[in-house]
Amino acid sequence: MSEENYDVVIIGAGPGGYLAAERAGAKGKKTLLIEKDNNLGGVCLNRGCIPTKALLNSAKIFHTSQNSQSFGVSVSKAEYDLKKAMEWKDKTVSILTKGVAYQMKRHNVDVKTGTAKILDRYTISVQDDIFKTDNILIATGSSPSKLSIPASDKSHVLSSDGILNITKLPEQLAIIGGGVIGVEFASYFSLLGVSVTVIEMLPEILPIFDTDVSSFLRKSMKKCSFITGATVTKIDNKNVFYIRGDVQESIPADMVLIAVGRTPNVSNLGLKKNNIEFDQNGIIVNDKMQTNIPGVYAVGDVTGKSLLAHSAYRMGEVAVNVMFGESDHMRYQAIPWVVYTYPELSGVGLTEKEAKDRGRKIKVQSLQMRANGRFLAEHANENGICKVIVDSESEALLGVTILGGVNSEIIYGATAMIEAELRVKDIKDIIFPHPTVSEIIKDTIWEI
Ligand code: NAI
Repeated sequence: MSEENYDVVIIGAGPGGYLAAERAGAKGKKTLLIEKDNNLGGVCLNRGCIPTKALLNSAKIFHTSQNSQSFGVSVSKAEYDLKKAMEWKDKTVSILTKGVAYQMKRHNVDVKTGTAKILDRYTISVQDDIFKTDNILIATGSSPSKLSIPASDKSHVLSSDGILNITKLPEQLAIIGGGVIGVEFASYFSLLGVSVTVIEMLPEILPIFDTDVSSFLRKSMKKCSFITGATVTKIDNKNVFYIRGDVQESIPADMVLIAVGRTPNVSNLGLKKNNIEFDQNGIIVNDKMQTNIPGVYAVGDVTGKSLLAHSAYRMGEVAVNVMFGESDHMRYQAIPWVVYTYPELSGVGLTEKEAKDRGRKIKVQSLQMRANGRFLAEHANENGICKVIVDSESEALLGVTILGGVNSEIIYGATAMIEAELRVKDIKDIIFPHPTVSEIIKDTIWEI
């Protein structure tokens, strides 16, 4: 048994935790990062953002090689090797987890492998070791939510964790949940030729976006079937059963992915014992990432606020700045979203529905992606949409959504405009590089 003092002890080495550790270390603070897994990086790096991007890219290459004739390129026989794609994914993850470990060393952060328990507001244990600190930062993340229906524990029924390690492609994949995780995996498997059906409870997939945009994406994912307004009731070895309206129906499936949301990891931490407030959405924090107990902070998915790695990064920075006396707070009005389907869908700020629900007086304008020269030159038989929301009175940009091609790399431009509270007039003065897909943002704003 050992006892040591730290300026801050961070529980969980996902994006929220490891970036907070890096920032605290860079400030010269004595920092301890505790992680129960052997690898640092959390879900995002090991079982989420990064491995899925490695696989999705391999599927896009496969799809492109099969559909390149319009551009004057013929590939005689494209083949997809799942084993090699998985090896590429694992290699990418391995390099990046080692990179996080290196960053901890570089910033003099101590790393402890094991499960942390909060004993009191100043004390944390990991097995027999005790750590004392004035600042505790909880960044324990979230886990896939379970479905409590018959046979959801069968071996062919997987979560987003399990499906990243399959050794054979399914023939008929049923995906329960048409949220971000469901549609990203639907895109991956359908591009590979797997027969995919997404079953979504709500009337439209991706409820975080306006329905005109979500339905555009649904129709663009031509190789994938969607059943909306349907609730899954039972899974057996060969079928998934659901109720739509009053009718019970079923689809065949040799693999089932459950993607019905994520649940904050709040168990066995000592939250109740230490009166740290939490509810079913996660640990309750203010905009400085402080919990109700002074000196105890929480960031990332475990707070239930904005379950995104980039939000966790920023929350981690805010928490560290606040705990060491700098003025900072978390702002949520310009956090970008990307759904890494093919085509990609990204957005930032308010959707049309959110703006209307808040009683904002708005102007809305959309432009087809095929109006953009670069998009047209590089996409055959594809389209998309750019949609902008502007405040009618101030003409401040409130929201931008882009569907079509690869737009994840340009949405930060709209993010910067919204964060800086630019008006239509300011944006019209910005010079965009030509020819780029990013010009669609300016062109849509010109139409307002
Ligand atoms: P989600 O909350 O985005 O979507 C879950 C969907 O499942 C909802 O549309 C819901 O109506 C549906 N559903 C729930 N129960 C159902 C049932 N019994 N039958 C049919 N449909 C049902 O959750 P998801 O996709 O699991 O993602 C979890 C979180 O992970 C998201 O909140 C997201 O923030 C984060 N994430 C973000 C990514 C990104 O930014 N690219 C990628 C992956 C995850």
